[in-house]
Amino acid sequence: MTAKVFVTRPIPDAGLEVLRQAIGKFDINPDDRVLTKQELIERVEGCDGVLCLLTDNVDAEVIDAATGCRIFANCAVGYNNIDVEAATARGIAVSNTPGVLTDATADLTWALLMAAARRIVPADAYTRAGKYKAWGPMLFLGADITGRTLGIIGAGRIGSAVARRSTGFEMKILYTDTHPNETIENDPGAKKVPLDTLLQEADFVCVHVPLADDTHHLLGRREFGMMKKSAVLVNTSRGPVLDEAALVAALRSGEIFAAGLDVFEDEPSLKPGLAQLDNVVIPPHIGSATIATRNKMAEMAATNITALLNGHAPPNCINPEVLDQK
Ligand code: GLV
Repeated sequence: MTAKVFVTRPIPDAGLEVLRQAIGKFDINPDDRVLTKQELIERVEGCDGVLCLLTDNVDAEVIDAATGCRIFANCAVGYNNIDVEAATARGIAVSNTPGVLTDATADLTWALLMAAARRIVPADAYTRAGKYKAWGPMLFLGADITGRTLGIIGAGRIGSAVARRSTGFEMKILYTDTHPNETIENDPGAKKVPLDTLLQEADFVCVHVPLADDTHHLLGRREFGMMKKSAVLVNTSRGPVLDEAALVAALRSGEIFAAGLDVFEDEPSLKPGLAQLDNVVIPPHIGSATIATRNKMAEMAATNITALLNGHAPPNCINPEVLDQK
């Protein structure tokens, strides 16, 4: 097969190997950095397929520049960085990488939950700074996890995996979703409740909704005000789901106890004051960052491209209606 494929940034070799096997040569941005909008526009022109990342803003302008392009394959499960409507209007397929990063992201959610609850980051900094002189009865007192209530906002693949991991902690589980999730209702016995109820009753609130118009600032000042003072909030979905400035205020005033945030509203920038708080854990969007998971994501994104260019439906097409037009 001869096809012109562009990869916007170096990705794990497992994905590049899929492209090598299927099409031999392809173009890749060799620099480990996000391309500027102008660079992206210039590089996508004349491509049959583009393998892109969540940091590439594939808006209508980029899509218009991609004359002849048949697929944008995002190497991520979230695809809010792509104007899917514009792609669909131009008959271009969009694909993502669902499933393979569920466990890694659910694991990181728990890592953040536990780190924030038990104040691991400031406690670690304290030890490193040479301040640990003696065991103390009041030193770094945190929040209990076992037996508490876990609130899951968005019980899809990742939210369900987070719920399943709670069983060893004997937790009560509440969730919100647009649809009932019978699987987690059966085991581990989760209960679907309205969002306000979840916010009022949960000790730990984990956010797992995709970013869309109706989830932008889903939690803000009003919602933080409803949460327990002892509550811990974890977000491993997308930053703009939370009003980050309002969250900084809630964390600073003690309206809630702590937060673990893997994603930020204006990523990679942080809202003023966030980095100065010692009751937040803020890794740089590493939810899916395990070696095996990133290999699988790269393979999956590349396979979506090679499938389409070989005349098959991409296994993870978000807008399959464009395939029917072909
Ligand atoms: C990561 O954030 C992803 O959407 O895959």
